[in-house]
Amino acid sequence: MSAALAHATSQLHDSDSAELDAQLLLAHVLGKSRTWLYTWSDYALTDREQLQFQALCAQRAQGHPVAYLIGKREFWKFELQVSPEVLIPRPETELLVELALQLVATTDAKVADLGTGSGAIALALAHERPRWQVVATDLYLQALALAEINVRQLKLTNLTLLAGNWCEPLRYSDYNLIASNPPYIDKDDPHMAQGDLRFEPHTALVAANNGLADIQMIAQQAWDKLLPGGYLLLEHGWQQGLAVRNTLGELGYTRVQTCQDYAGRDRVTLGCKVETAR
Ligand SMILES: C[S@@+](CC[C@H](N)C(=O)[O-])C[C@H]1O[C@@H](n2cnc3c(N)ncnc32)[C@H](O)[C@@H]1O
Repeated sequence: MSAALAHATSQLHDSDSAELDAQLLLAHVLGKSRTWLYTWSDYALTDREQLQFQALCAQRAQGHPVAYLIGKREFWKFELQVSPEVLIPRPETELLVELALQLVATTDAKVADLGTGSGAIALALAHERPRWQVVATDLYLQALALAEINVRQLKLTNLTLLAGNWCEPLRYSDYNLIASNPPYIDKDDPHMAQGDLRFEPHTALVAANNGLADIQMIAQQAWDKLLPGGYLLLEHGWQQGLAVRNTLGELGYTRVQTCQDYAGRDRVTLGCKVETAR
């Protein structure tokens, strides 16, 4: 098995994480953990396992994301199911989850995650705060079907999935927090032709108006759904911090600030709806 892994790693030279990719693919083929691979490094692959592993490595060498090839990705404290219908959850998005948990002190809060995709943000919040009521929306039923699988797998009963355009499915104006990681990439951004982005749904990535159209729409709609003192929390591109702060400021949000990810880049902007504004 060590030889097969070493060979696969050398074949995946275009990947930044060739060794990890090879381990994840082989662990998937064998139905084992990566730890098992270390422990049983002299295990001899059967012909069938060898062929399956080679086929997956060939797809990976063509650029297909590992998460789609194995159908799962770690996020927060879980392993979430993913498919090409949804964005692959990113570690940067955990910053948004951490901020949401810090911002809302209420034990029985009502929170929304707009554009939930695999359910990543909503699942993390519902898991960490079992007394919160979490509502997650997405425009696309394929995404909601996958989120539903993850909700069931984690046995969460405080999370409701709703279909619709951003805030439209939210019936009442009683939210303590509205969070979203919306599409924010410009259609002509050269990154769209690189890495995992080539294989992810455009509907999860691309927004008009230099990538800001969905952020602007959410910021407008969220105002009417937030309680006074409620927070809006938006993930965005690392060069969009100023534009997002301006948008929130113009709409009347206060305490507007941008937080940086672990690489020190602008990543999440928040704003508060105060009682007297607008
Ligand atoms: C960047 S992905 C984020 C997915 C997930 N929240 C995460 O962080 O991994 C954006 C999500 O917004 C959804 N979306 C796009 N347009 C939408 C709209 N008009 N209303 C609701 N959701 C939308 C997409 O289907 C996609 O799941």
